[in-house]
Amino acid sequence: MKGVILGGGFGTRLYPLTKVTNKHLLPVYNKPMICYPIETLLKMGITEILIVTGIEFAGDFLRLLGHGEEFIADLNKWNNTQYPVVQFHYAVQKGAGGIADALRLAELFAGKDSVAVILGDNIFEDNFKNEMTKHENGAMIFIKEVKDNRRFGVPIFDAETKRIVGIEEKPTKPKSSYAVTGLYIYDHRVFDIIRTLKPSVRGELEITDVNNWYVKNGSMNCAIVNGFWTDAGTIETLHSASALVKEKESKK
Ligand code: G1P
Repeated sequence: MKGVILGGGFGTRLYPLTKVTNKHLLPVYNKPMICYPIETLLKMGITEILIVTGIEFAGDFLRLLGHGEEFIADLNKWNNTQYPVVQFHYAVQKGAGGIADALRLAELFAGKDSVAVILGDNIFEDNFKNEMTKHENGAMIFIKEVKDNRRFGVPIFDAETKRIVGIEEKPTKPKSSYAVTGLYIYDHRVFDIIRTLKPSVRGELEITDVNNWYVKNGSMNCAIVNGFWTDAGTIETLHSASALVKEKESKK
């Protein structure tokens, strides 16, 4: 399985912090934000990672992450971990056409492999190695019960089977208390599915539409996230992400 980190967008909800840099390079406690999704993929055992970002700050990502060897050596030093060397690849996204639009750029990189896709501002405490090993084909989403899930994709469950029957993007009246987090596993069909999508009312190709395709096709699996999960895409959540990581670090 290969990994894809989506690190584009304009970070408008974090303005003015994002006036002169990309959101995913901002600090979350003691490391640039993108280090956390990288670690989530490393813990899954992934060694080939594509970083998708906009042209404006692509050079900064290259300077931070490079080919991979030096960065992983540094990361292991900072964390006292022993992650194996990975190879980073880069793709440049034009504009901000949504998560599914950015994912399109991973098609050549993925080939016939499945991909673990993570949003560059999603920070997880959990380790998803087992889920990854179980994945054969179809897709998998990772859900978490949260207090206010109207900012997220929200799964709808069948009352009897408890299986997911649909996902609503940012519903005003959520039909469950769960949120779909920004980590997804897809088989190679995902790229054909994206080609069939139409932009949503916010003008984006929605990852929720991709997920609903797999739900309707009967090939969506679902796992529950343990430990903390947060995005770090607003001033509030950027701040609380730092606090959560700090707390975890102090327990080490
Ligand atoms: C995106 C997805 C949403 C998902 C969220 C996770 O939201 O559209 O389904 O729950 O990421 O962070 P956005 O960041 O585009 O508001």
